[in-house]
Amino acid sequence: MEKILVIGASGQLGSELTIALSSIYGEANIIAADLHKPHGEEVHPIFEHLDVIDKKTLSDIILKHRITQIYHLAAILSATGEKHPGLAWRVNIEGLMNVLDVSRDLKIKKVYWPSSIAVFGPSTPKENTPQTTITDPNTVYGISKLTGERLVEYYYYHYGLDVRSLRYPGLIGYKALPGGGTTDYAVDIFYKAIKGEQYSCFLDKDTSLPMMYMPDAVRATLEIMESDADRITVRSSYNVAAVSFSPLELYNTIKESYPEFSIEYKPDFRQEIALSWPKSIDDSQAGLDWGWNPEFDLQKMAKDMILHLKDSELIILQ
Ligand code: NAD
Ligand code: SER
Repeated sequence: MEKILVIGASGQLGSELTIALSSIYGEANIIAADLHKPHGEEVHPIFEHLDVIDKKTLSDIILKHRITQIYHLAAILSATGEKHPGLAWRVNIEGLMNVLDVSRDLKIKKVYWPSSIAVFGPSTPKENTPQTTITDPNTVYGISKLTGERLVEYYYYHYGLDVRSLRYPGLIGYKALPGGGTTDYAVDIFYKAIKGEQYSCFLDKDTSLPMMYMPDAVRATLEIMESDADRITVRSSYNVAAVSFSPLELYNTIKESYPEFSIEYKPDFRQEIALSWPKSIDDSQAGLDWGWNPEFDLQKMAKDMILHLKDSELIILQ
């Protein structure tokens, strides 16, 4: 029986992945760990307080629960990382090194660690960005993710540690709030529309970025983790994609449900980060190797977000 540790379980992705893993492996076999418990949601019954920089506590938790697999999601995202570069480096790199070292030493069977479209930079081709191309990130977050990709590949080839990874685009979900990224606008905008308030967008109206609805992201994660090891030919991180749109395109889609909804554009420091990232991603290698195929386009995602969010207690809390 697998025992799975989810580090960063209270975050936007972690809270959804913990639920999905519980439904597959049973709640009692999933251990949620984070710096803090999630706000306004049900806490997973087995919760461990963990700062991933603390290697000893990480090791103790793995031994205590006889962990066989780790999903290491804890990170400082792009916008917060620009405000606190030292913290971003410690959490994203020292934290990852701790997970990799302890996993190797305690013979963890499989590790999942996400990368990001933030590994790309100003010189990367912007349209249909290939799996292997120029990577010149200019944010601390992007530099940490690129370093992480080199590290996970190194641990696979040098120590045989089975680490798997996806370069997520911006993730959009209704179960938890986003945690300090450049793509957060694509979640925030729904809250304002549903509450009948104007949205002030921190990106310019034509800034297209690759995005993915959370059910697709969770399914991609589970699919790569469940694939036979010999199908995983990319041991750094796979490009994955679903949909690309600009703030204006998203606004127009939401307006179909909320005709009175209004928006203003006030680009801030996140605009420069967004402009350094691709507009669309070539994820054909993930399709070839382990059958990746997204389900949600812009219309389908927006409809589902509105359906779930308008009855959510997060609308009241936010
Ligand atoms: P999030 O900020 O919502 O959640 C991260 C969680 O990590 C938080 O609950 C936080 O408390 C926890 N954490 C932070 N520092 C920690 C530490 N020192 N020890 C333990 N826990 C700590 O982020 P998310 O959106 O859920 O992202 C999850 C992963 O996916 C990250 O690695 C992120 O880089 C990656 N990713 C996310 C997106 C996105 O759009 N959300 C896109 C690309 C990649
Ligand atoms: N969505 C993330 C961010 O904006 C990308 O990894 O930081």
